[in-house]
Amino acid sequence: MKKIALVALVAATLCGCGQKDSDTIKMITEATFPPYEFLRGQEIVGIDVEICRAVAQKLGKKFSCDTVDFDSVIPAVISGKAHLAAAGITVTEDRKKNVDFSDPYVKTGIVVIYKKDNPFTDKAQLKGRRIGVQAGTTSEAFVTDELKQEPERAKSPAEAVAALKAGRVEFVIADVDPAKNCVKGEESLALSDFITSEEYAIAIKKGQPELLQTINETIAEIKADGRLAQWVKAYTEEADKLKEL
Ligand code: ARG
Repeated sequence: MKKIALVALVAATLCGCGQKDSDTIKMITEATFPPYEFLRGQEIVGIDVEICRAVAQKLGKKFSCDTVDFDSVIPAVISGKAHLAAAGITVTEDRKKNVDFSDPYVKTGIVVIYKKDNPFTDKAQLKGRRIGVQAGTTSEAFVTDELKQEPERAKSPAEAVAALKAGRVEFVIADVDPAKNCVKGEESLALSDFITSEEYAIAIKKGQPELLQTINETIAEIKADGRLAQWVKAYTEEADKLKEL
């Protein structure tokens, strides 16, 4: 028996099965956020997925990607369940206390989604209103920290917009790109200008300077050689089409 166990152990080590974790770069995301991450059938696809795949390639490793609720994305890299958190994550001072951020790869911001028959005019108008947001996001923080009130928390930007259409909230706040996707083809809805200015970056567990450097080199390369711009174009088009189905 002992001999068999030993043979099995050696075989596992030789074929690398015992080291699965170190062979694979695991990305964690929340895949209701087109064009950065969304589902194509069962497959998680999008700009962030391509960026992280490029990081894995540069490291010479395999790649895998999982989706969880947005407020579990950063905890997954802190606990070591995943190596790379990429989910249109905005760099914030609060988050910097818990994770390290790569160089940013997008400049963007949040907007208000409103019904045309109840137009949004300015931030002051939001005070005391029922506002839908995706839980755990900077849109939620805008409502709790700036407006000093409680939002209606949804699992995804699309779920928040469904509540707006149903009249359960008066406004939705979300990042501009998923917001555009949500209002596409909806004659009754419109978007405001930016109400914040934000940047997306990849988050990793603190204290990994080499991994951070590889990620930053990858971001510099995909910006310089046009891959990032190409992914933005391709996934924006694909996400638009999904919406039309
Ligand atoms: N940029 C916002 C934030 O970091 C929203 C990100 C939501 N991302 C997602 N994949 N659902 O809070």
